[in-house]
Amino acid sequence: MILGIGVDMIEVARVQKAIERNPRFVDKVFSPIEIAYCEGKKNRFQHLAGRFAAKEAFIKALGHGVPWTSIEVVNLPSGRPTLSVRDGKDHGFIRAHVSLTHLAAHAIAVVVLER
Ligand SMILES: CC(C)(COP(=O)(O)OP(=O)(O)OC[C@H]1O[C@@H](n2cnc3c(N)ncnc32)[C@H](O)[C@@H]1OP(=O)(O)O)[C@@H](O)C(=O)NCCC(=O)NCCS
Repeated sequence: MILGIGVDMIEVARVQKAIERNPRFVDKVFSPIEIAYCEGKKNRFQHLAGRFAAKEAFIKALGHGVPWTSIEVVNLPSGRPTLSVRDGKDHGFIRAHVSLTHLAAHAIAVVVLER
């Protein structure tokens, strides 16, 4: 059964500006695995923006907030993203599905939660 669905779209430049203004933003929002993945990419801001959108989409799907860094997007070897919450709490879903896309200017994420 579907518990919730969330979608979010963000301007890559907004995330880039937030990071350039405050370098600690990255550590406040993204997990070490997410940071390492994005650092390895040609345009890290697009990938970070995708993950930011995924976190916001997840919160929409869930219906309440959780700490940013506890929501983690990890890619499988195929490149397919997965999403999990690492805060040790039961949020009432058994599986999270996430899909990301990003272009130079915008990133979009969709999250579906199953219970
Ligand atoms: C997956 C694919 C459709 C992505 O499309 P695209 O237009 O290049 O990229 P988009 O900007 O729309 O999306 C990028 C996001 O797609 C997601 N993605 C990558 N590979 C994926 C896959 N196999 N399945 C689902 N999502 C995937 C990632 O989340 C990626 O963003 P991220 O790197 O920041 O996590 C395309 O690269 C493709 O068809 N690749 C072949 C995949 C394949 O066969 N892999 C098998 C290797 S074992």
